This record gives sequence, C-alpha cells and structure tokens, in this order.
Amino acid sequence: MVDVLLGLQWGDEGKGKIADFLTPQYDVVCRFQGGPNAGHSLEFHGQKHVLNTIPSGIFHPGIQNLIGNGVVIDPVKLLAEISRVEAAGVDVAASLLISKKAHLILPTHRLLDQALENAKGATRIGSTLRGIGPAYKDKTGRTGLRIGDVTLPGFEQRYHAVAAFHKQNIEYLGLTDFDLDAMNAEFFAAVDGLRRFTQVDSEYWLHEQILAGRKILAEGAQGSMLDVDFGTYPYVTSSNTISGGACIGLGIAPRYIGKVSGIFKAYCTRVGEGPFPTELLDDTGEWLRKHGNEYGATTGRPRRCGWIDLVALKYAIMLSGVNELIMMKSDVLSSMSEIKAGIGYEDVDGTTDQIPFGIAQKDIKPVYQTFEGWQEDITTARNVETLPATLQTYVQFLEQFFRIKLRIISVGPSREQTIIQ
Ligand code: GDP
Ligand code: IMO
Ligand code: MG
Repeated sequence: MVDVLLGLQWGDEGKGKIADFLTPQYDVVCRFQGGPNAGHSLEFHGQKHVLNTIPSGIFHPGIQNLIGNGVVIDPVKLLAEISRVEAAGVDVAASLLISKKAHLILPTHRLLDQALENAKGATRIGSTLRGIGPAYKDKTGRTGLRIGDVTLPGFEQRYHAVAAFHKQNIEYLGLTDFDLDAMNAEFFAAVDGLRRFTQVDSEYWLHEQILAGRKILAEGAQGSMLDVDFGTYPYVTSSNTISGGACIGLGIAPRYIGKVSGIFKAYCTRVGEGPFPTELLDDTGEWLRKHGNEYGATTGRPRRCGWIDLVALKYAIMLSGVNELIMMKSDVLSSMSEIKAGIGYEDVDGTTDQIPFGIAQKDIKPVYQTFEGWQEDITTARNVETLPATLQTYVQFLEQFFRIKLRIISVGPSREQTIIQ
C-alpha cells in the first residue's frame, strides 16, 4: 500500500520532519510532484538538513527513495543537493532511484520564470524562481524533456532547440542579462554527474514493490492551498499537491492508496503573494515570524504569518480524503495568553465556511473563535498527558471539528520532539 503525507496549508507545514520521522515504518519513500521549489527541513543528532528534490527518507539506511515521474528535476540543483547529502555520510547512489519520466528543468526555464515574474509586476506570484511553472508548462505543452531522454540519441539537439525557443521568449519579455553558454555548460556537466544514479521505469518498479507487500510513503511538496486546480489560483504552484497527485505523480492506481496524513501548523504561514485571509499584519504576526523562525528553507524569504484557518484546512482535508492529522509547531504558540482560529469567512455576500471562487479578488474577513493559550514550554514534552490542559482542550476541539484523529503533535524541529497519541 501507499500512504500519502501532505501539507494542508500553503506549504512549509513540516512535511520533511514528519516524513523523516515516519520513514522507519516504510520500505520506500517517494516524491510525487514539485521540484526544487520545495525546502524540507529535517533535524536529528543536533544537525539540520534541508532537502529540495530528494525524498526525506534518504537519511535512513536501507530505505529506497524515489523521485517520481511527477517531479520536475533541475540537474544542477539536484547534483548539488546530492553532494550535500553525501557529505553527511549517506550513500545516495545506493538509496536513490529516479523515474525516467521525470521532466527536466532547463536553465532557460529558470530564466523564463524570472522574466515572467518581472513582466507581471504587481501581479507576480512570488515564485521561488526555480523554473517550476515553465517546466510544467512545457510538460503539458508536450515540448518538455525528460531525464530518461538524456540517454537517447539526439538529446543535445533537442535540448538546444527547446532552449533556443525559450531564449526568444525570455528576450521578448525583456530579460537579456544572462550567459546562456555558461548555463548550458553547467547543465550538461550536471547531467553527466547524474549518470551514476539509477533511473527506473518507476511505475513498473513501484508496482512490483506493492505486489511484494512493501510499504510505501508518498511525500507531498508545497501545500493543498497551492494546488494548481484547487489552491488560491493563480497564486499557486504548477502541480497537484493533493492526494490525487500521488496517483498521477507515481503511476499508482487509487485502490493502492492507504492512509492519507495531513500536516498543518498550529498557526498558518504563506510565502509569496496571494490571498491569506487570517494573515496578521500586526505585532502578533511579527511575533509568530520571530518565534517560529518563519523564513523560507529554500529562498530565505520571510514567511507571512497568521492564525490557523480552519475553513482552508477543512477544504484541504475534503480534497485529499485525509484520515489522520498531524499538528506542528504548537510549541511556537507557548506564552500566548490566547490564540485564535478562523472558523468562517465574511464578505459583502455574508458568512461562509467554504472557500469562495475568486478568493483572490474578494475582500474576506475571517470569523474567529478564541481559545485559551498554553503558557508553558512544551518542547521537552514526550506524551500527551504532560501537555498543558489548554493545549489538550484545543486538540480535542480540532478533532471534533474535523471528526479526524490528531495522531501526531510536534513540539520542536527535532526528530525526538514528536508526540504520538
Ligand atoms: P516543509 O517544507 O513542510 O518540510 O517545512 P519546512 O522545513 O519548510 O518548514 C518547517 C520549519 O519548521 C523547519 O524549519 C523545521 O525545522 C521547523 N519545525 C518543524 N516542526 C516543528 C515544530 O514542531 N516546532 C518548531 N518550533 N519547529 C518545527
Ligand atoms: P514546501 O514543499 C511554501 C510558493 C511560492 C509561490 C508559489 C509558486 O517547502 O512546502 P513556484 O516556485 O512553485 O512557482 O511558486 O508557491 N511555494 C511554496 N511555498 N513551501 C513550498 O514548498 C513552496 N513551493 C512553492 O512561494 O508563492
Ligand atoms: Mg518548506
């Protein structure tokens, strides 16, 4: 069976930490969408690691990690990431498989991302500028190149034809200050560097694993509210981040999907532009950013902070059929006398508990419910019974609100700061 672990908000929920924590229960850990726009942080033995394209099972010996067909790969970035992980003592070649069908991010995709964002001006998405959107556009536009293509005759010619077309568009959009020859050289060197890693027909390989009874974890990237179909469009990423994305991004039939675990922070963050109804633009927002260390793992950008949004969470849970919840960073809220949760949206048309179409154009005010905070440090708590009564009450409220068990409560960035109930 394939269990899915995914973010229910706007990304950065703590997927990396939990995927790493859960890996010992699995034989295979896969990424199924996104690319190096993701930044998944893991912390153990006092060391922090950030992964972008490599699945978060990589630090556990004996586990296979697969970059699925739904992922977009930037060879330059992936090779650099592999070097970092190898420097930490991991035999990456022995434990990483790459789907032949994963699409490539070309240097010109990165430039296009930049040129398109510049051209959008005030309506920019706030992209990570990793070339994600342009690469997926080429995939669905049927002009993309896949990593398996590097072994086929004529790859260089195909690459240069695509890059030349991109170059015209980039220059048309007004970006001219780049050295494409240098970028091409870096790209081909990275493609060569990746040849020692095993490429597989991953849909067949995964099917064999399933038939052999192996347990597979599909690790989502980004978050449900950044899903290209269901997120706050157009302020979204370019892939399907919800559980259905795991079927497409790995070639797994829906009947093999087992548990779907949804991760959320005890508050809410968003990086980049786009609607965020419960955003706090005041001192409390600044307080959350500081105490939660809310700066992007990939880009270092300050994350926008706000109260937890139960309207958006309920929507994300519905879309993915989430049957187990995981709450992160409740330790960050320690010392707040009261905390709030958005339970509805109000605009000129009235109050709703659904995500309205055209949310980006609406002026929405959240309806809040207030809870008593927990004043003590909980970072050393290791079981639910030792958590403050107010936090336990809050957990029970959430479980009743969603009618789903909150299985894991995370009280710090490290592996051991994890409570299972
Ligand atoms: P991901 O993209 O979903 O994997 O999340 P990120 O790694 O981008 O962001 C989560 C951040 O919160 C990282 O810096 C983690 O080390 C940190 N983190 C994860 N869980 C907790 C927690 O329970 N408490 C605290 N204080 N930090 C956490
Ligand atoms: P992880 O996996 C948070 C956001 C960007 C931008 C929008 C589109 O670490 O949770 P893109 O580069 O995909 O074109 O950007 O999506 N975004 C993320 N925000 N966490 C992420 O990944 C993100 N990946 C993309 O900030 O608003
Ligand atoms: Mg992240």
